Amino acid sequence: MSVPVIAIDGPSGSGKGTIARRVADALGYHLLDSGALYRLTALAARRHDVDMGNPEALARLARSLNIEFGRDGQGGEMVLLNYEDVTNELRTEETGAGASAVAAMGPVREALLELQKSFRKPPGLVADGRDMGTQVFPDAVLKVFLTASAEERARRRHKQLKDKGIDVSLAALSRDIEDRDRRDTERSVAPLRPAEDARVLDSSGQSIETVTNTVLDWAERCDGF
Ligand code: C5P
Repeated sequence: MSVPVIAIDGPSGSGKGTIARRVADALGYHLLDSGALYRLTALAARRHDVDMGNPEALARLARSLNIEFGRDGQGGEMVLLNYEDVTNELRTEETGAGASAVAAMGPVREALLELQKSFRKPPGLVADGRDMGTQVFPDAVLKVFLTASAEERARRRHKQLKDKGIDVSLAALSRDIEDRDRRDTERSVAPLRPAEDARVLDSSGQSIETVTNTVLDWAERCDGF
């Protein structure tokens, strides 16, 4: 029997990352944060001065990435690029914008495909991204498309940044989120959209626990799970 995959796709700020981590922890599954791979490609391009207008060069770079995902001493997320801790740099708005640019290039997506598939290991995988259910794991046992209103996503991001001592205007964040949504949904390669057999879950006004439990409940009722 093939290793079960739970695909959780959706726009930025929908809470996918948090929900995917909770679901993976609850089931003892592996986790794939596919956005991190696009972010790492953008970060490596900046460090190695690779031309952001050259999809083939960026795809070569994506194939050569030396990446390790782990946990820090407090159990938090840690990402290493060429043995260097890049966890914080990975989450900046600048890296996010670079990720969204390289993610629109077919050769880069192709280059990262096998790497993403290699995360599928027993006992199972929770994969978080934009095209997990449509492109990378079309045979996922459960496909969730997680959404939240643009206002709610901007508010969440605003709070996250404020907690880190960073003061950005809510209006500017809303604009950024809407721009990124537009780029991700309107691009010609692997645009952001729910798989035909995805279950859409709107997390606006719902707690992390409620959303996590809904996904776990759906998973338990799935064939092949
Ligand atoms: O999820 P995260 O914000 O880390 O993703 C960064 C960018 O990478 C997204 O804006 C999107 O353009 C791209 N991405 C993608 N396909 C994925 C995951 C992320 O195109 N599976």
